[in-house]
Amino acid sequence: MISEAFVHARFADGSSHLVGRCRLADRLGQFAYAGSWRENRHGRAFPLHPERMPLDGGEFVLRTRSQIGPLADSTPDSWGRRIVEALQGPEHRPGNGIEWLLASGDERVGCLAFSRTPSPPAVRAAVGADSDLGRFASAFAAIERGEAADPLSEHLFRAGASLGGARPKAVIAQDDQLWIAKFSRTSDGFDHCAAEHAAMRLAQVCGIDAAATRLANAGVRRAVLVQRFDRTPGPDFRPSAHYLSALSALDLDETAQGGSYAAIAGFLRRVSADHRADAVELFRRMVFNVLVGNRDDHLKNHAVLFRPGQGWRLAPAFDVMPQPEFAPVQAISVGRFGTTASLANCYTLCGEFGLHDDEARAVAGGIVERLRNWRPFFAAHEVDASTIRRLGGAFAPTL
Ligand SMILES: Nc1ncnc2c1ncn2[C@@H]1O[C@H](COP(=O)(O)OP(=O)(O)OP(=O)(O)O)[C@@H](O)[C@H]1O
Ligand SMILES: [Mg+2]
Repeated sequence: MISEAFVHARFADGSSHLVGRCRLADRLGQFAYAGSWRENRHGRAFPLHPERMPLDGGEFVLRTRSQIGPLADSTPDSWGRRIVEALQGPEHRPGNGIEWLLASGDERVGCLAFSRTPSPPAVRAAVGADSDLGRFASAFAAIERGEAADPLSEHLFRAGASLGGARPKAVIAQDDQLWIAKFSRTSDGFDHCAAEHAAMRLAQVCGIDAAATRLANAGVRRAVLVQRFDRTPGPDFRPSAHYLSALSALDLDETAQGGSYAAIAGFLRRVSADHRADAVELFRRMVFNVLVGNRDDHLKNHAVLFRPGQGWRLAPAFDVMPQPEFAPVQAISVGRFGTTASLANCYTLCGEFGLHDDEARAVAGGIVERLRNWRPFFAAHEVDASTIRRLGGAFAPTL
């Protein structure tokens, strides 16, 4: 089993620098920055985690997330792992966190790359074209039926296998931008793609910085395209930001129960380059998620980005969709009443977001006003009538 990997950072100008080395020893992860990175000889160094892994630290012990801590954001979740298994066979499945880092491809989120030796790995882009969407959809349908992956389609599977999340996805280029195509599944009880597109656009109308989205036909299926916020425009689509999920920011495991919006707000207060704006933005997202019934707002669906020259900021919103199939509680705590999905609960800890009670109520009031017309808004964004009926069960009853 491989137990050591070198970590590199890629930059928008095509350069790349050695960040450090991660290894597993005695069932614990250890990470140390390279001297050149720690001393910032090139003027581009940033900490992998602003609090847990400062540049002037020595060796860090990593206990969470398969002992690779925040580096785990660069590895796939259930969908990508399924693809890697289908391609390589379960017997060749990576056996530890380090092997998952080395198996991840260049479409992974953020700007890190991994290698077995200190020299930077060659870039192996695996980006699809929008004309591939139909082929992606049929290749993914075969995987979902449990069939072995066709080796001729390997390049299709690689385009998105390193991203997190559970839904089938692939990275494609369209109009000089890079997009994550998220495909519908036969098991979907309603039109998830249109619902996600409409919810993301509605979030934007409510003043939330949501990633750009489009709907696309993918052969027999549909896809929602989400514009990547961590890549430059074409032709090279280079990494433009270091990505840290809220799960990593709070240094928790997937199984931890401790996540809350207030804890994310605390992290922003301590590290964000514009913490006031980011905390209010997070409050808006919490209120929006509660009201539209986006119950899948777990800690991997929030993130911060480090952009050279700009510092740490809350990342644009992504993976926002009403979830009528979920119990009416949020995935993380909203206020003093825990995960209870109510506006009253949102107000209980508004001070953590830098807001007085009347300010919090004004922010939420503005969102409620804009949500009143969600049905015609969704209809105008290609959501069919039966999906709108289903989604009605997720929205707050007063809307
Ligand atoms: N616009 C974006 N730009 C860059 N990275 C993104 C973007 N949207 C999502 N990601 C990354 O891809 C991962 C998967 O995306 P997303 O959460 O939308 O997928 P999902 O399969 O619906 O997830 P889940 O399992 O939470 O339902 C995210 O956790 C995030 O790391
Ligand atoms: Mg997600």
